Amino acid sequence: MRHLMNPLDFSVEELDKLFELAMDIEKNPEKYADKCAGKKIATCFYEASTRTRLSFEAAMINLGGSVIGFSDANSSSASKGESVSDTIRVISCFADICAMRHPKEGAAMVAASKSSIPVINAGDGGHQHPTQTLTDLLTIRSLKGRLNHFTIGLCGDLKFGRTVHSLINALSRYEDIHFIFISPEELRVPDYITEMLTEKGIPYEEVIKLEDIIDRLDLLYMTRVQRERFFNEEDYVRLKDFYILDKKKMEAAKEDMLILHPLPRVNEISVEVDDDPRAVYFKQVQYGVYVRMALILTLLELV
Ligand code: NCD
Repeated sequence: MRHLMNPLDFSVEELDKLFELAMDIEKNPEKYADKCAGKKIATCFYEASTRTRLSFEAAMINLGGSVIGFSDANSSSASKGESVSDTIRVISCFADICAMRHPKEGAAMVAASKSSIPVINAGDGGHQHPTQTLTDLLTIRSLKGRLNHFTIGLCGDLKFGRTVHSLINALSRYEDIHFIFISPEELRVPDYITEMLTEKGIPYEEVIKLEDIIDRLDLLYMTRVQRERFFNEEDYVRLKDFYILDKKKMEAAKEDMLILHPLPRVNEISVEVDDDPRAVYFKQVQYGVYVRMALILTLLELV
């Protein structure tokens, strides 16, 4: 039985297969409409979500399966003091697969160690968010036709942004990727990540101003400042509008640069950019459903 905790749990070859499957699902959805008949996914969300939870639920419904779960820790027995380990043993009796989001780093891993069904990490604190990364990679692969030879800028909250951590991990396995990290000093990417890049000989730069480097980027990955992970509101207020991507800044960007964002967006991308053909963050959401369908089929060994 396999779980998904980190994008590196799948080899590059396995990811390729997953993306091929997702692309076939996009083209021939009817072929997959009953593949999960009689199967259930449990979505156990101890932390807020719109896209990820509903995307998993839509994915399972598109496959002919059904959904159980909770979307708030307060409506689960966590509010009575139940541990994640006990909860997953119970959920294992009800469902065939589980997607779990939790504010604590490592929670999904603890669940997986006690589970008798596949567990998917749907975000653990400021640590990892592998299915967002699968979504990001499928979007890039579909729209650019490749996952190598890119200069990618990651901008915003690189310290707490788990989607950023997972994406860097995943992209570090492809050829000729040059990272540019764009963040205020306080929100720099964690040392363990830059150390990993140095060890692997992967080039990266760290800059503060987006305007200084936007013209060099093939991909721009914007993120929101992660308010819920700050220790005090004052710091959040000071940093929340540090970056605002607007039409003016986009004038300097390459004609075929893609703007990605895991969403939710707060102020970091002005709505005037939404009509720019380079803005693909809403397309990204659709790719998220296809890739989660492919992932459910793969983990349930139905392909
Ligand atoms: C992200 C997350 O939860 O980490 N959202 C998502 O799942 N698409 C990004 C964020 O909340 O900023």
